[in-house]
Amino acid sequence: MSKTPFYITTPIYYPSGNPHIGHCYTTVACDSIARYKRMQGHDVMFLTGTDEHGLKIEQKAAEKGVTPKQYVDEIVEVFKKLWKYMNIDYDRYIRTTDDYHVESVQKIFKELYDKGYIYKGEYSGKYCTPCESFWTDSQLDENGCCPECHRPVTFAKEEAYFFKMSPFADRIEKLLLETDYLRPKTRAIELVNNFIKPGLEDLCVSRTTFKWGIPVTFDEDHVVYVWIDALSNYISALGFKNEKYTDYEHYWNNNGSGEVIHMVAKDIMRFHAIIWPAMLMALDIPLPDHLAVHGWITFNGEKMSKSLGNVVDPFVLGERYGCDAIRYHILREMALGADSSFSNEIMINRINSDLANGFGNLVSRTVAMADKYFGGTLPTERESAPIDDEFRSAVTRLLSTVDAEMDETRIKQALEAIFRVVDRANKYIDETEPWKLGKDESQRARLASVLYNLLEAIRIISALLAPFMPTTMPKVWEQIGASPEDVEYEKLASFGILPENVTVHKGEILFPRIDVDKEIEELNSIIQQNMEAAQAGLSDTEKGEEAPSEKIELAPEITIDDFAKVEIRVAKVTACEKVKKSDKLLCLQLDDGMGGRQVVSGIAQYYAPEDLIGKKIQLIANLKPVKLRGVDSNGMICAADTPDGIKVVFVDDSIPVGSKIR
Ligand code: MSP
Repeated sequence: MSKTPFYITTPIYYPSGNPHIGHCYTTVACDSIARYKRMQGHDVMFLTGTDEHGLKIEQKAAEKGVTPKQYVDEIVEVFKKLWKYMNIDYDRYIRTTDDYHVESVQKIFKELYDKGYIYKGEYSGKYCTPCESFWTDSQLDENGCCPECHRPVTFAKEEAYFFKMSPFADRIEKLLLETDYLRPKTRAIELVNNFIKPGLEDLCVSRTTFKWGIPVTFDEDHVVYVWIDALSNYISALGFKNEKYTDYEHYWNNNGSGEVIHMVAKDIMRFHAIIWPAMLMALDIPLPDHLAVHGWITFNGEKMSKSLGNVVDPFVLGERYGCDAIRYHILREMALGADSSFSNEIMINRINSDLANGFGNLVSRTVAMADKYFGGTLPTERESAPIDDEFRSAVTRLLSTVDAEMDETRIKQALEAIFRVVDRANKYIDETEPWKLGKDESQRARLASVLYNLLEAIRIISALLAPFMPTTMPKVWEQIGASPEDVEYEKLASFGILPENVTVHKGEILFPRIDVDKEIEELNSIIQQNMEAAQAGLSDTEKGEEAPSEKIELAPEITIDDFAKVEIRVAKVTACEKVKKSDKLLCLQLDDGMGGRQVVSGIAQYYAPEDLIGKKIQLIANLKPVKLRGVDSNGMICAADTPDGIKVVFVDDSIPVGSKIR
């Protein structure tokens, strides 16, 4: 494999609070891809960092009575500590307060201005203070409130610079629809229909109402506003328009001889799929190759958030189960494009089934038998059987499958493929019954063959797992007697690499089995305490952010008989698509336990169809049918109005479809 440049980035995180498992996902995913590419021999640059400017940081620092820089310095240390703890091997860490980044952003802003893509204007419109965003009337929600947080907006006027986006609309549309830029591509249509077709609006790129930002060099009342500052990190970190680094030509502007991948979660997809390409087009420099977009890690259907307290601290989880088990669990659960719901129970069961019983057991059984029957060193006589060929070929084919999945940024599928071979290897033990061979002196050569084949399978599997679980795999190599050369990439598609008389070393249990009930109880009580602490510890402004402060007005009282008129049933979403020519409506096909039905719901701005398929929901089953935009809707699905927008009320998967809710 050639040593071509490979550049991968996480988003730069807001250090407005400590990091949580949700932040870990992108970083762990990028780290695993970077490690995989390094293993393949690519020349990798893996970038992560922090996005440190803005009103929110200025306000939080003021609340604490420290300067914004002091405030972010402290949190950045926690991020770095977590990355170390999770064994994240980044090559560069950028902070948007670093001098070289400030220099690049100022020059980028000036160049865009000189080229006529940035102009001075006036922003007058509806302004949401907590979100620091202006909105046009057409963007406000149905109550005339902020479309993001649904709080009231006020009329405001401000002199500001704007970035002209419209000249790039056609090129961006083609980028999204006709290239492999966006992964998964299913999201492209939604972006084109929601943002490009209605006409790309110019973007406000400077502010005068706060000071904690990068000053515009030619107009000192203005600071550069969020996205030009944040997005530029991907190239300033390589030395674009600064003297600090000299890697820009190598990793970015290399005439397509390398690969550039950004990975982000869905809430910032638009900025990376539309604004970032527009900026690069305006600067006349190459575009990245891919934007991989994943969903959120949710907890009980809600995005994890520190201030909601529904977060299990990654340090706590790592302490209990080891950082590799956590890495494996989040990588194995999340498919690109879809949300993944985090539950302590799923995590523990996954660790037990895949890591303790699956892979860990394969290693410990094999090493223990080599130790028991041969004193640790295999004899060199061999006797093969037909079953060996099929087993060997399943193992040696694995590399090409995993390579193909990783080329498409499909980590979950890569891990699934590896664990299919783990299962195959455990089955090979059951089929060959080495414990019986061990009792029969005449079967020594056969037993040696079986154990050697298993050790070779473990060598290949563990080498392919190392990018995902980098802390544990060297321990496996120690146990199976593999040298660093034995697990090199070039040696992963062939058998016969370990010495014939390999010596194994019994070692610690790699993934101890977890007592499910006990752990769940303990973790749930930690979460409960976190939630209470989050509520008690929030400042008044933060509390206001989480819970509507207005008095809740209830509708007039009803009797139980009134309520009995409403039939709420559990149903499962079997298919879902956007309603044509509507930004708001999704059309869902439901298995309602009564032959199925179709429901139209106004949640398209909050959920992509793939977020819902397979989920169980609450259905108002006896609502009079209506037509919405010409599409039949038979019932309604229950959803909650929250400060973060509309949230569907999901139902636990163990409840059968058709069950009545009362
Ligand atoms: N600063 C911007 C990114 C600028 S990139 C040029 C930002 N920061 S953030 O800290 O708020 O979020 C960073 C990333 O973490 C986003 O992709 C966000 O969606 C992701 N996540 C935050 N919580 C998450 C989950 N619960 N699950 C998965 N990803 C999550 O946005």
